[in-house]
Amino acid sequence: MRFRRGDFPEGFVFGTATSAYQIEGSALGGAGPCHWDTFSATPGNVVRAEDGARACEHLTRWPEDLNLVRDGNFDAYRFSVNWARVLPEGRGAVNAAGLDFYDRLVDGMLERGLQPWLTLYHWDMPSDLAMRGGWTNPDVAGWFTDYARLVMGRLGDRLTTTATINEPWCVAWLSHFLGVHAPGLRDIRAAAHAMHHVLLAHGTALQALRADGHQGLGVVLNMEVCTPASDAPEDIAAAATQDAIFNRWFLQAITQATYPAEALEGLAPHLPRGWQGQMEQIAQPLDWLGLNYYTRRFHEAAPGQPWPASREVPGSGPKTGSGWEIHPEGLEQFLLRARDSVGDLPIHVTETGMAWPDRLVDGSVSDTERIAFLDAHLAAAGRALKAGVNLRGFFCWSLLDNYEWAEGYDKRFGLVHVDSDTLSRRPKASYLALADALTRSS
Ligand code: FCB
Repeated sequence: MRFRRGDFPEGFVFGTATSAYQIEGSALGGAGPCHWDTFSATPGNVVRAEDGARACEHLTRWPEDLNLVRDGNFDAYRFSVNWARVLPEGRGAVNAAGLDFYDRLVDGMLERGLQPWLTLYHWDMPSDLAMRGGWTNPDVAGWFTDYARLVMGRLGDRLTTTATINEPWCVAWLSHFLGVHAPGLRDIRAAAHAMHHVLLAHGTALQALRADGHQGLGVVLNMEVCTPASDAPEDIAAAATQDAIFNRWFLQAITQATYPAEALEGLAPHLPRGWQGQMEQIAQPLDWLGLNYYTRRFHEAAPGQPWPASREVPGSGPKTGSGWEIHPEGLEQFLLRARDSVGDLPIHVTETGMAWPDRLVDGSVSDTERIAFLDAHLAAAGRALKAGVNLRGFFCWSLLDNYEWAEGYDKRFGLVHVDSDTLSRRPKASYLALADALTRSS
């Protein structure tokens, strides 16, 4: 690594991130089914129809995993609670063993000197609620708030930060319009409802948690550079519409209580009735903003197609193992854009990282590509800091090779290699390089 901890301001938080469904093992410990369990069981949705039933067995191996976070010299661990582990039917009866697990996990972090950073929803919608329409049902704001208050009632006294939702664009657009993630819908009306309800759930829960006395409350948005495929005005317009859907919809709603005009052009006819009256509820004051950043994509106009009448075209830049262009400048741009929206509010890079077809050779993984990727993104974060962004933390995705959603276990994002059969953990070169760069001077 070219950077050292000392290049960043005193107190800057370095962490690594995971999410519940991707690592815990959803079949273990009395969790209820979530929509990923059934989406993956439907042919054609997930590579090799793999699911999170076993995942990395973090549910039982968590002490070893937290040791890895500590020994990597990280300050913080970003994790999520599986809604269906705590409330197997999404509401009503509590799975006590589920809450106990997270209680021990948080204590385990504190015992190791790690800051616990909780995400309440990282995509594990309980199946009973999914069958009632999940994010398309307006009641989801209440379901989510009840769940959030239950979890925070148990864990909230020991957390450093809490995010309501991870990546609302993925929750809503990727899952209800593009059909790539559970529940796999491709329906503009369902998408518009989810785009609004996910924000309403965020705002409603955040307000309730604040009223309960909790602090350190925020949300994690993902952003992706949307570049026009050419200088043609219609391609520029196509990219601007994608930017409105992906990057401005959520940020503008939570900071200004409005939606961008380019996105409303297509979505307004499909939004739930009375949405305008709920915008203030969405724009609750935040304590911090999380930004996940991975890549940029090129867009061109698709004349004759329904709105948004655009399609993605491949770019020629260097790619990660999942075909995502490596474009660190985008991180700097989005940090500056986020600052324009949230001003001096603390901002954290809550995820970045890359998939690579890592191979374990003689007991080690030489992932020099990942080291270069992280170095370049840390440099971009450093430039944003110099430009005055109130950036306070940087989290690498991910601690472990894990269940990469529709890609199954095919795409390895971990700093730590996980053997597909034995699940044994082995730090990669990137983990060792980070541990060295993050050494605390005594
Ligand atoms: C993000 C997700 C995370 C992981 C990475 C690669 O969109 O938050 O769960 O899948 O991408």
